[in-house]
Amino acid sequence: MRKYLSNEVFKPGAFPKHTYISRVSSEFAYTYEFRLKQALNTSGFLTSIIGPSKTGKTVLCEKVIGLENLVSLTGNDFKGALPFWTTIANRVGLAIEGEQLHTNMVAGERIEGITESNSSSFREKYLTGKDQVIDYFNKNKLVLVLDDFHYAPEETQLDMSYQLKDAIRKEFKAIVISLPHRADDAIRKNADLSGRLSLINIEPWQIDSLKEIAITGFNTLDININDELATFLAAESLTSPQLMQSICLSLSLLLDLDTNIEIQEITNRNDLINAFKATTINLPYKDIVKRLKSGPPTRGQQRKTYSIGSGEEVDIYDLLIKALALDPPSTYITLDDVKVRIDRILRDIPGKPDRNKIKSAIEQVQSIINNSEAIYQVFEWKDDVIYILDPLFLFYLRWGSY
Ligand SMILES: Nc1ncnc2c1ncn2[C@@H]1O[C@H](COP(=O)(O)OP(=O)(O)O)[C@@H](O)[C@H]1O
Ligand SMILES: [Mg+2]
Repeated sequence: MRKYLSNEVFKPGAFPKHTYISRVSSEFAYTYEFRLKQALNTSGFLTSIIGPSKTGKTVLCEKVIGLENLVSLTGNDFKGALPFWTTIANRVGLAIEGEQLHTNMVAGERIEGITESNSSSFREKYLTGKDQVIDYFNKNKLVLVLDDFHYAPEETQLDMSYQLKDAIRKEFKAIVISLPHRADDAIRKNADLSGRLSLINIEPWQIDSLKEIAITGFNTLDININDELATFLAAESLTSPQLMQSICLSLSLLLDLDTNIEIQEITNRNDLINAFKATTINLPYKDIVKRLKSGPPTRGQQRKTYSIGSGEEVDIYDLLIKALALDPPSTYITLDDVKVRIDRILRDIPGKPDRNKIKSAIEQVQSIINNSEAIYQVFEWKDDVIYILDPLFLFYLRWGSY
């Protein structure tokens, strides 16, 4: 028997107890855990964490704060009409008494040390839902984690940041998490909060840290994986620790490591490739790829096509998608790279699309993306570079069948 099952070790989408890897940020030579801990210990400051999707923002908070002290809400939770503090009170099951007490006070109820003359300031100070929540959080050493802040309705974001600004002065501990290039201006660009923010920017994962997930995980299962194969896994994980966790889990299941306890080493490159393919099966990109490959409506005009062998006829949009999928796996692809890759696909076929034609095709695809829902936001075209925003999408292009 192995000490653990593979699904206890590799945890895509959950807290990775056995494969948690700590990283040092490039902007500042300390680990993210250390920085978050320091930020939370700085009273009067709000912590703002920004980073690409699935880079470990939530897991970082869970690691540092611990589940029992963490109260998590998302921007979505603030879509209703309830006031900010009521939403938070509801989350922790705290009944806000506000009005009831208020009336009693006015009716002249005596509370030790309160005179008639300062009772109204007492009311304001202590009897609002907000103060009850702050009190409750402080007493129980709770930290509010406001995840996916960008999902909160824009018109309430400013009020939320105003409420938080006031609360942090009373030792309330809060973290706001959002994606880069998304609306968290209400926090980071809010003059009221300037000088009161601890900023943590989570960077994409590098090969070495990704490798550590695989090596640590397989070692926990008493299995060796050599550096070359670990590097292969890391490169295909495309900066995503979640993808690394998924691939390692697929690989464990394919090799049936939980049953085949005599396996002590991963040696076969083909097993990895099979694990990549197996991992794409659960990814929801089939329709998205189809939509992006078909490009904008043609309005009856025929698009130029190219015969690329084995009877396959492709147009510029098919070519673009095929080009993204080629080696090397990268989340940063320049227009020149795309051109070189398309030339590679077309080899000696005459009339290859030029830079301008490729550029306008990319712009068309970007406009399809812009006009579609959140799951379509797979890349962003800016200054002649395609930035892959969703590594899982690129992984699907490389290994999925569509
Ligand atoms: N420090 C880490 N070490 C190992 N795996 C991690 C780490 N951070 C994240 N992961 C993996 O990535 C997944 C997504 O992390 P998560 O915190 O939910 O991302 P985010 O909140 O940034 O979208 C986790 O469930 C886990 O599988
Ligand atoms: Mg998260």
